[in-house]
Amino acid sequence: GDCGACSVLVAGQTVCACLVPTHQVEGQSVETLPGLMQADPHAKALAERFQDQGAAQCGICTPGMIVSAVALLRTEPSPDEAAVKTALGGVLCRCTGYRKIIDAVLGAPAVRSCAGAVGDGIRRLDGRDKIMGLEAFGDDIAPPGTLEIRVLRAPYPCTGFAFGDLQAWCRATEGIKACLTAADIAGENRFGVIAGFEDQPVFAESVARFRGEAIAAIVGLPQVIRRMRPSDVPVQFTELPSVQTLAQAQAPKAVQLHSHRKGNRMCKGFVCCGEAEAALRSAHVVVRGHFSSGFVEHAYIEPEAGFAQMVEGRLEIHACTQAPAMDRESLAAILGLDRARIRILPTGVGGGFGSKLDLSVQPYLALAALKTEQPVRLTYSRAESMQSTTKRHPSEIDLTIGARSDGRLCGFDFKGNFNTGAYASWGPTVATRVPIHASGPYAIADYRAEAVGIYTHAPPAGAFRGFGVPQAALAQESLFDDLAERLGMDRLEFRIKNALQDKMPTVCGQVFDSGVGIRACLEALIPHWQRENAQIAAFHTDQARGPLRRGVGVASGWYGCGNTSMSNPSTIKAGITAEGTVVLHQGAVDIGQGSNTVIAQIFATALGVGVHQITQRGADTDITPDAGKTSASRQTFISGNAARLCGAALRTSVLRQVNAPKDAVLELARGQILVSDPAGTHRIQTGTLAADAEGYVFAAEETYDPPSRTLDENGQGQPYAQFGYAAQLAVVEVDLELGTVQVLRFVAAHDVGKAINPLLVEGQVQGGIAQGLGMALMETYLPGRTENLHDYLIPTIGDMPPVETLIIEVPDAHGPYGAKGLGEHALIPSAPAIVNAIKAATGVRITRVPVTPSDLLLALKAHAHDPQGTRP
Ligand code: FES
Repeated sequence: GDCGACSVLVAGQTVCACLVPTHQVEGQSVETLPGLMQADPHAKALAERFQDQGAAQCGICTPGMIVSAVALLRTEPSPDEAAVKTALGGVLCRCTGYRKIIDAVLGAPAVRSCAGAVGDGIRRLDGRDKIMGLEAFGDDIAPPGTLEIRVLRAPYPCTGFAFGDLQAWCRATEGIKACLTAADIAGENRFGVIAGFEDQPVFAESVARFRGEAIAAIVGLPQVIRRMRPSDVPVQFTELPSVQTLAQAQAPKAVQLHSHRKGNRMCKGFVCCGEAEAALRSAHVVVRGHFSSGFVEHAYIEPEAGFAQMVEGRLEIHACTQAPAMDRESLAAILGLDRARIRILPTGVGGGFGSKLDLSVQPYLALAALKTEQPVRLTYSRAESMQSTTKRHPSEIDLTIGARSDGRLCGFDFKGNFNTGAYASWGPTVATRVPIHASGPYAIADYRAEAVGIYTHAPPAGAFRGFGVPQAALAQESLFDDLAERLGMDRLEFRIKNALQDKMPTVCGQVFDSGVGIRACLEALIPHWQRENAQIAAFHTDQARGPLRRGVGVASGWYGCGNTSMSNPSTIKAGITAEGTVVLHQGAVDIGQGSNTVIAQIFATALGVGVHQITQRGADTDITPDAGKTSASRQTFISGNAARLCGAALRTSVLRQVNAPKDAVLELARGQILVSDPAGTHRIQTGTLAADAEGYVFAAEETYDPPSRTLDENGQGQPYAQFGYAAQLAVVEVDLELGTVQVLRFVAAHDVGKAINPLLVEGQVQGGIAQGLGMALMETYLPGRTENLHDYLIPTIGDMPPVETLIIEVPDAHGPYGAKGLGEHALIPSAPAIVNAIKAATGVRITRVPVTPSDLLLALKAHAHDPQGTRP
């Protein structure tokens, strides 16, 4: 009942299948998505419209959405938006931001193009299975009767534990096949994603450092595992002293989580240029603030799941993952197994957003399959998914910024502490990225920023759309508004005045000769800014407004695409078979963002054929070369470039066969390739050419690794080959009596360099904004208290306002066809734009997110008593 993805129709009414016992439907009609797709005209029409609108990203919610929409359209063939929101209100989506789903149900006109070259907003190539409910996610692979795994988890923030005779219990319990603990690990009982920070055990050994940490895994027959209670297992738990907040972890004599990290400090990132202190002393105005945020849960609709089996002495893992090659490396180290004996086959991924970069079910599946030599499956419950997987880092940030009387920035001093939980995960990346990005996309000559990762007895914080940058942007963009106010400047004009431009150094001293698109994004907002401010002024003159106040906020963001200052190559391979089929080996995992479509469009354009003529294979570590992880907005840029190079190399091979010039036109026909140039048409009979071991008569494999340089001790260097830029405007309505905030509208300007697929660009922007809205207004994960999607609130379809997306194309020097990454960028400005809109509406500066109604009421009350905020 958490998410509504399993919705079916019982006697024509929408219900969650997971909440209805089978005997209750006896004698009634039950309609599922596949059934509806066979005969129901509404379902068939919706299937087309969902694809035309790009209304399915990962696709895990899509069956629930379409089934609910069918029920609506049967009774109301021409519904309005309010009716759609009511009918679909019980189904959660974490990817799309709902707007394209609403458009699909309403039958909004769609722009369709079938060519599929770079720039065409085609349907996603892997969309049909998602729409029809046929996509195989992590829990869909195992055959019936497969052995199941139950992971035993620690009940306290810091838990001491001791097993009784576990193996004797295992032997004596019918249907139990194996009990796995740290003693069963042949390799290293630790993993991690950053070299030097592999500190997380597969199974805790005597002490567990967060509630929900694994201590053992029981493998057995499905009916036995499902009936088993954790209390059946002979183990004793003791609650030990813990530190759960940043303040507790840094207190003198605080409990230490890892003996080699003194003071619970994991690591620090630092960037410095000019003289921040001196500049602040000379500034005309100085503003400062303390900003904080809590854990944010990824809340993908698909909990972690997978299946494993031994095949001819090799281990096969089918699981939802963002990083198959990294999974294989980590498992090889844990299992003490040659990596050649491990095959990773990513399943459909029902949302990831960063958390499925880390191992979850994979080591338990692998250990169980190796030990029992039988197929095994494991699906996390919602509670254990939320307890045990990574979160967005809670943050405590102190920031001081100065400006001259002419509005130019003058001094910036940032100190941020980030709660990395019990283990490092991507915490070192957050510590490194934040100081590079904390300036926002602005020119600041005198700058100092430091970010520190701190261990606590909490779930590991890891990668989540932005790697700490959204938290930093909240502080910086809030204070920019305060600076503009102190200077008497328009808030948008203040940002435009200070925006980075080509040939200006970033705070890392990096200079881009071209491609800096933030000013274009901000300027694109000007007419919308003027219109919204005028409408709000008119609203406030209306005496009937009662306790309602409206405000408009603006914020910017930037994000370096790919890994920071280190090699992160992608490799793409392709071939043409003797039958004349073009096969693309595409290993960049599509978690809903669209890499299966975008990378194919880039490859097809470089090769010079239509995208629909390409057959894709992968991701699969046996058949696709390593395209790196789906993370850090890197796939369009880096794997896209590898695809471009691969397509171009394959084209060169074909042209060379007939000595055709570079601009010749390729045409694929059955068993032949036609190459046309001014001299005529050459026919290559593919069946007559010698094939390689994989059956390809032409083949290419190309790698792209973006040029970046390491940073010096002051963070100076070239951390990324490319940044993407964004500026967003939010309009809110605040109820002064209830403390509620309703977001009425977003206008989002995003510089993507070149929109490879504008339809997918819009989808990314809307989805990112929805997550930013959740971060701003409702989301906070509290271990032990918000471990389901009823207590942990994410935006529903009713919370999402209209979003106008302005696609800005300032070409990047390195991007494929000028394209820049987009995934993280969509979220970064959203929460600060909302918080700034609340300030504009009420005069209250919010410094902690989420802004719940009770917190806002308290802040409004405090503001009424002390409008200048002068009292402590
Ligand atoms: Fe809705 Fe992914 S498309 S949850």
